[in-house]
Amino acid sequence: MKKRLITGFKPTGDIHIGNYLGVLKSLKDYEKDYETFIFIPDYHALTSVKDADKLAHLTMEVAKTLLAIGLDSKKTIIFKQSDVPEVCELTWIFNCLMQMPALERAHAYKDAVAKNKDVNVGLFDYPVLMASDILIYNSNIVPVGKDQKQHVEIARDIAQKFNNQYGEIFILPQEIIQEEVETITGLDGQKMSKSYNNVIGLFDSEEVTTKKVMSIVTDSLRPEDKKDPKKCNIFALHKHFSKDSLLKIEKKYQEGGMGYKESKEILAENINKELREIREKKKELDKNEKYVKKVLKSGAKKARKVATVKIEEVRKRVGLTN
Ligand code: TRP
Repeated sequence: MKKRLITGFKPTGDIHIGNYLGVLKSLKDYEKDYETFIFIPDYHALTSVKDADKLAHLTMEVAKTLLAIGLDSKKTIIFKQSDVPEVCELTWIFNCLMQMPALERAHAYKDAVAKNKDVNVGLFDYPVLMASDILIYNSNIVPVGKDQKQHVEIARDIAQKFNNQYGEIFILPQEIIQEEVETITGLDGQKMSKSYNNVIGLFDSEEVTTKKVMSIVTDSLRPEDKKDPKKCNIFALHKHFSKDSLLKIEKKYQEGGMGYKESKEILAENINKELREIREKKKELDKNEKYVKKVLKSGAKKARKVATVKIEEVRKRVGLTN
């Protein structure tokens, strides 16, 4: 039997090629080897997005993205977190097992406090809700970025705590760390991130993509000068989008003979080529939101079936039924 894999893609902002390379691209591969559950954590997004229309819009954008990258809704269960409210009930039950100091040590929470962000109770409890997401579906494998590793560890701790207290019913989940998430370079050479305003949108038009690529920051070496590919922000993206011609480009950098303008033109073309199909599919889905909603509802139905069985078992174990 295939192992079950789960991950969530938070609807908190416009999706860029860093997200695509880091997380989205690999989701399709998981479909072959695992029984995959991919969901949109809109309850989690509520800790930071306070505008109803915006949250609804961003949620639909993620749903369309998951379909546009080619996930097969017959193989992968695609759903919205809030369509399975049982996770909130489980979160409460877990809250009563979880110790405050353990959550106070969580990086994301400490970081939010240090940066004077909106530290609401939801944000504090974020890892417990995430543990519920993972454990309620009996998941074995959780692919996440490095920044989420601690959250999966907390999920494991909670599973163990529950199992010790009430008997073994939860699987201890294992993370897969997606290293690339951290290392995608933005237009200015910093990590690609919405907050640095240095992103290329996954659904930017080809014209906008080209314009942005042409604005990538470089040093002022001339075309004939020898260049170090490792120090070049354009080359950092070639590594992901120009795999077929990477050695050739690298050689031209090292020997001299390729200017930054030429390098950018090649990169823009390759990005646009790789994303063309996904962008077309997204446009079709924009015109067919009814279909997208249908996929989410049918995914939720399947996910909820698993969750209701689990929550019933939990209720019995903790003494909430007679
Ligand atoms: N916290 C994750 C992130 O920000 C999203 C998420 C929520 C998640 N619940 C999850 C990921 C459960 C994996 C499993 O990326």
